[in-house]
Amino acid sequence: MSVLEGKVALVTGAGAGLGQAIAVQLAKAGASVAVIDLNEGATRETLDKLEGFAMVGRSYLCDVSDGAQVDETWAAAAKDFGRLDIVVNNAGVSFVGPLIIDTTDAAWHKSINVMQTGVFYGMRAAARLMIPQGSGSVVNISSIRGFSPNPGRIAYCAAKAAVLMMTKVAAGEWAPHGVRANAIAPGVQKTPMWDTDVANGIFDEGEFLKLIPAGKLGDPNDVGELVVYLSSDAAKYMNGSCITIDGALTSVPLG
Ligand SMILES: NC(=O)c1ccc[n+]([C@@H]2O[C@H](COP(=O)([O-])OP(=O)(O)OC[C@H]3O[C@@H](n4cnc5c(N)ncnc54)[C@H](O)[C@@H]3O)[C@@H](O)[C@H]2O)c1
Repeated sequence: MSVLEGKVALVTGAGAGLGQAIAVQLAKAGASVAVIDLNEGATRETLDKLEGFAMVGRSYLCDVSDGAQVDETWAAAAKDFGRLDIVVNNAGVSFVGPLIIDTTDAAWHKSINVMQTGVFYGMRAAARLMIPQGSGSVVNISSIRGFSPNPGRIAYCAAKAAVLMMTKVAAGEWAPHGVRANAIAPGVQKTPMWDTDVANGIFDEGEFLKLIPAGKLGDPNDVGELVVYLSSDAAKYMNGSCITIDGALTSVPLG
């Protein structure tokens, strides 16, 4: 029997990159998957990849930085699937540079709205369904930038650090109700977000590879498999944890 057979999962930002890989791995493990994204074409692409795996795959257009949309979408998914067991708050945006003195209000608010407030909305909507159910697993996608600073990314780092603390607050509140919250802090993953930053000259992939002891970028499917583990009964005592998956990038001095 597959580890997540009969479970219903919801993944945000599931139209591309890590979110898409997470949706695929959850489906491979036997879960039905609600694919959430802003981008309709991207959700269709992910649904195509779920064909043959997901018990049921459905897509929903939702901007996670809009609390009303999140409440409506989570409720719609729970109604359509009959329940909600796993929520993965993954949607994110990348703003790299400029330094603090030149960071605009718009860039600050966009990052915080999607990656901090959006995660809060996703957690709150999940808890409202899972606490009455007496079970559930929430996995929040943070980043090594939640604890390893990066000049030029004040809002990104702030949002990702907040995700780690919000995960712990949730774990303490929810554990008595049988609901778990854990976080994952990926290092550099090969996704459209990374490829766009490289194409825009923000990062030099060759130089970055020299910094990663593992000598390669992360495979998004590995993050997906970690989400499967954290959402399975094997992780039933894991609550409030953050797992780093970075090829040892943050285990060596960088300077
Ligand atoms: N790629 C990396 O190296 C890396 C490393 C650490 C953490 N992360 C985190 O992983 C998550 C996914 O990153 P990725 O590299 O796959 O990004 P990506 O840009 O490749 O994909 C992000 C997806 O999120 C969707 N999205 C963006 N804003 C949204 C919103 N407001 N509502 C709903 N959907 C929205 C986009 O349409 C897109 O499909 C992000 O939270 C990111 O910060 C990525």
